[in-house]
Amino acid sequence: MPPSGLRVKSPDLLIAESGADLEGHGLKRTMGLFQLVCFGVGAIVGTGIFVGLSDTVAQAGPAAAVSFVIAAVTCVFTAFSFAELGGAIPVSGSSYSYAYATLGEGAAFVIGWCLLLEYGVSVSAVAVGWGQYLNELLAGVIGHQLPAALSNAPGEGGVVNLPAVVVMLLAATLLVRGVRESARATAFMAVLKIAVLVLFCAIAFTAFKAGNLSPFASHGVAGVTSGASVAFFSYIGFDAITTAGEEVKNPRRTVPLAIMICIGVVTLLYCLVAFAAVGAMSADAVADRPAALSLIVNQVTGSTLGGGIIAFGAVVAIASVVLAVMYGQTRILMSMSRDGLIPRVFERVSPKTSTPVAGTWIVAVVFAAPAALVPLDVVLNLTTIGTLAVMAVVNVAVIALRRTRPDLPRPFRARLFPLTPLLGVGFCLYLMYGTGPATWAQFAVFLAVGALVYVCYGRPRSRIGARAGTDGSRVPARAGASVSTRDGG
Ligand code: ALA
Repeated sequence: MPPSGLRVKSPDLLIAESGADLEGHGLKRTMGLFQLVCFGVGAIVGTGIFVGLSDTVAQAGPAAAVSFVIAAVTCVFTAFSFAELGGAIPVSGSSYSYAYATLGEGAAFVIGWCLLLEYGVSVSAVAVGWGQYLNELLAGVIGHQLPAALSNAPGEGGVVNLPAVVVMLLAATLLVRGVRESARATAFMAVLKIAVLVLFCAIAFTAFKAGNLSPFASHGVAGVTSGASVAFFSYIGFDAITTAGEEVKNPRRTVPLAIMICIGVVTLLYCLVAFAAVGAMSADAVADRPAALSLIVNQVTGSTLGGGIIAFGAVVAIASVVLAVMYGQTRILMSMSRDGLIPRVFERVSPKTSTPVAGTWIVAVVFAAPAALVPLDVVLNLTTIGTLAVMAVVNVAVIALRRTRPDLPRPFRARLFPLTPLLGVGFCLYLMYGTGPATWAQFAVFLAVGALVYVCYGRPRSRIGARAGTDGSRVPARAGASVSTRDGG
């Protein structure tokens, strides 16, 4: 049983409400394993490797690949937890729903609030990265870039970041047309981005010099560790797979499998790219360089054609991240809206397209503002700390659900339990620490605002609270589903 004082929503109710056991309810079940893996790769591979690689190299030196592996290990431990929860509670909403089922409504709201950083603010960051590569592409194709005033945020020498706004509005336009088209587009782009990174490796490895890797950990263990905090951004998004739970065929098996395949494929790619980049040019030449992948290819081939192809691939790749992450945000808000914690507009699904049209446009417009106006490093760090906080809680949630609902069918069980979720929490906290005091302070303010919104808006309107009445009893919601609340309200 859940501890007293919590409004906990039972997994049975979550599944029943989502229609996970009812074909034809709400969202359409259209996605299989391949589509889901492509969707995951689409959500993961983007600004982090194309733009952030040079920052990771700046921290870790030639040992950047080790930083990627440390970030991957953090994700793998947490992925076990996501996979177990995604299999046991196959509904949209991801970590938000898991927290509701295990730690109660307050924790769920805080997680939903942090997911605004992991998804919403992340879309802003990724869109800014897209704008940088668009400028590289324009420079290669027509010899001109957009004026700095229109392609940078205030504080970075500009007035407004217009390309970032444009790509977000384009993504919203695709998403409101329906998940089938969006998933197809994402699948195509995922395959293309893997091909571009493989092409990069094939070209860069022709110029590989072993001497460039020596001394390997030139900035010491501390450099490798802080590199891991930077590299972590390039893995954000793997859990977006679990937000598609309601649109996946056979989700109990497919969701956990897709998560594991995605992390494996992406880690292999990132390590190869890091070795190829540093092997082809020295770490010092790669460090902090914008559009480093294009730069390396231009240098190795002695022409701008190869770099142009890479820039084109990056533009496409990063656009697909915008699409997938924005999709995830709309589904999480849909879950929160169903629970009455945020306005109902987010749960409305258009009968014509089966997509949350109004919710998608609100997300696009609201998060276009930080994309247009806030410096990239600020949005990147906020995304990272918010995501790590969510992941730490997901690891706690998997432990809690094993205690409160040992009976629940679990097609995937976290290995070496409880060691893996505990290591997951430890790695998350360690990388959070590495984001620095300024980000911690911004995160604290963000959490305080979230707590206020919950107390003043969400809690009084909670449907779980309304169903349970004031007597604190267990109230059956549907056949085979129940709400447990002991908070007296
Ligand atoms: N992992 C995503 C990216 O690198 C957020 O763009």
